[in-house]
Amino acid sequence: MTKKVGVVGCGQMGAGITQVSAQAGYQVIVNEATEEFLAKGIKNITKQLDKAIEKGKLDQAGKDKILGNIKGTTEFAEFADCDIVIEAVTENMAIKREIFAELDKICKPETIFASNTSSLPIGDLAAITKRRNKFLGLHFFNPVSVMKLVEVVRTLDTSEETFNAAFSFAQSIGKTPVKAKDTPGFIVNVLLIPYLLDSIRQYENGLASREDIDNGMMFGCGHPMGPLTLTDFIGLDTTLYIADIMFEEFKDSHYAAPPLLRRMVNTGYLGKKSGRGFYEYNK
Ligand code: 3HC
Repeated sequence: MTKKVGVVGCGQMGAGITQVSAQAGYQVIVNEATEEFLAKGIKNITKQLDKAIEKGKLDQAGKDKILGNIKGTTEFAEFADCDIVIEAVTENMAIKREIFAELDKICKPETIFASNTSSLPIGDLAAITKRRNKFLGLHFFNPVSVMKLVEVVRTLDTSEETFNAAFSFAQSIGKTPVKAKDTPGFIVNVLLIPYLLDSIRQYENGLASREDIDNGMMFGCGHPMGPLTLTDFIGLDTTLYIADIMFEEFKDSHYAAPPLLRRMVNTGYLGKKSGRGFYEYNK
């Protein structure tokens, strides 16, 4: 039974995973590299809870209870007795491997390890540990507190018991889990990324204005955001990073990044987070 959850990384995804786990009543220990990053992450969670209070969806006692379930740290020592640890740090294989190698020494043998990676092979991460059968992917979607889906990614070595425990954990925090294989892009990104790349390609080729491409998909197909707005929201750098990994893996033009996307990323147009992507944003 999962009682204590460890989250590595308190950026956008890590903070979201921490929040939804604490909301579901779990004791959560969340790690960041520095006190400054940690304070920023906890502040973002507090801000989300304050918004919920403003909307009348949460009261002060509820907020205090959720925050009371969260403990921040810049160390890994307190991860020792976690039942599940979810890693949500930057998409860098070397950094993730270093983290899992360290956690493997610290955590009890029963602890399940999960990575929130959207694009790196889970099996390659598991291979660094001595608990390949207790290792899997738990891929959340942004914004974590709103998006219902979690892809539960099974490697060649993930045991049935580990998979079932992680699947139940995802359900227990109010998510809808789906079973995915350890292939690039899992289920969602293998479908979503080519769609976003095609939209950028069509925009680059002059098919229509950015607004009309977005409105086309919003009002013609009922999507909550058009593809160019969604790329801004995900981050142009993240989209390019995932596309490059999938292209490298499949060698299929579906995943080839259009020149405009690469040019925008190289120029620092990263989307909403940088204040400019396909649209401009007030920082
Ligand atoms: N963080 C937390 N909560 C947020 C948020 C954010 N950034 N943005 C909006 N919300 C919350 C709002 O507070 C509101 O909550 P409420 O229902 O409790 O009041 C709810 O979401 C709806 O927000 P709004 O009414 O302000 O706006 P919208 O109805 O336009 O919804 C949206 C915003 C949920 C972001 C919606 O536009 C949407 O679903 N967009 C698509 C998002 C998407 O596709 N995400 C997946 C990206 S792919 C990915 O993550 C995988 C990766 O590997 C690339």
